[in-house]
Amino acid sequence: QMNADLIVVGSGFFGLTIAERAANELGLKVLVVDRRDHIGGNAYSEADPETGIEVHRYGAHLFHTSVESVWQYVNRFTSFTNYQHKVYTNHKGVVYPLPINLGTINQFFGAAYGPDEARALIASQAGEFNVSDARNLEEKGIALIGRPLYEAFIRDYTAKQWQTDPTELPAEVISRLPVRYTYDNRYFNDTYEGLPVKGYTNWLENMADHPNIEVKLGVDFFDESQPINKKAVVGQVPIVYTGAIDRYFDYAEGELSWRTLDFEREVLPIGDFQGTSVMNYADRDVPYTRIHEFRHFHPERREYPTDKTIIMREFSRFATREDEPYYPVNTPGDRDGLLAYRGLQDGEKNVFFGGRLGTYKYLDMHMAIGSALSMFRNKLSPLFGGPEGDG
Ligand code: FDA
Repeated sequence: QMNADLIVVGSGFFGLTIAERAANELGLKVLVVDRRDHIGGNAYSEADPETGIEVHRYGAHLFHTSVESVWQYVNRFTSFTNYQHKVYTNHKGVVYPLPINLGTINQFFGAAYGPDEARALIASQAGEFNVSDARNLEEKGIALIGRPLYEAFIRDYTAKQWQTDPTELPAEVISRLPVRYTYDNRYFNDTYEGLPVKGYTNWLENMADHPNIEVKLGVDFFDESQPINKKAVVGQVPIVYTGAIDRYFDYAEGELSWRTLDFEREVLPIGDFQGTSVMNYADRDVPYTRIHEFRHFHPERREYPTDKTIIMREFSRFATREDEPYYPVNTPGDRDGLLAYRGLQDGEKNVFFGGRLGTYKYLDMHMAIGSALSMFRNKLSPLFGGPEGDG
């Protein structure tokens, strides 16, 4: 009954890129299974039933890349708007632009510094600690940008994200804190940026739209009551697995830790709540980290209602096994566990681990797609007798 040449576990960007390449490039029959009731993994979006506004169910997704080959590839499935992401933050009831830039600095200090004056000021405030001697995140943050900006924009926000005081967090959690000595507050520096004109789900469905690709939803790969499950298919047919690596091995080397997010959606009877797509809340007394207002991702959509808007508050916490894993925590214990799992993975013949969950790495969409393209070229294509490498 099973006549697939390749099974892909997970229909996120990694799995769909593999499936699309295998079907289009090699003519393989591909079966994609996903335990959720929709395709697309965390990039999935849907029209809110009451307002028709496109909502990113698993948190805001902004596409950006500087990798030419990825940009060419994604444009086969969707066109992009010219949206440019910008983020603002509310600190003590005043709104500042992020990432910290000359505008933020001048507003915060009530000044009109030029770039060199601002640079000199921040350097003098940062002299309190040395980056290399910093014993925790707080000392590192102060060493990078000085105490006043650190305390206003980094300390409480980080504490909310990690449910941990920054003096208790390792210094390595932040490598740098970018400060721009211009008024440029574009969030991303990439060559290409935009949102899919017809939405994420349309893009994801276009990737899966091939007679050789079958997608089965509501199928958990570890559920042995289903015909397609780990026990039944491993060793029978090559598998690309994009689920959690610790789950694959039944947590034999312990659980890898993740942070998750909780979202609270609300439809408001007004046309515009905050005038922008993402507003961070920098202070500890506000329990959420940010508010998304989805209409602002698509200012070009004339069909959106003018008397209603949908907002989503975001809360951050540590994940349990039952939660959606979002961001790897990456403690020293996690790093040891991951190495042990990589060892076990080598013993699984013709099972290829990929994607965010399969590699325990935070990957932006363009990185997930890029790494799937290279797994396809370097491992899968040669396995099926197709061309190898960058040909
Ligand atoms: P993804 O998690 O999307 O897909 C994995 C799939 O496997 C899921 O559909 C899951 O249901 C399925 N699965 C797992 N276990 C299974 C099992 N046992 N059986 C069957 N199926 C199983 N990127 C970016 O470029 N810009 C952005 O703005 C953002 N924003 C963002 C916000 C938040 C909150 C998160 C968590 C992530 C982002 N991202 C992002 C990253 C983006 O979501 C990420 O790059 C892609 O989801 C990666 O795709 P994958 O296919 O690797 O995983």
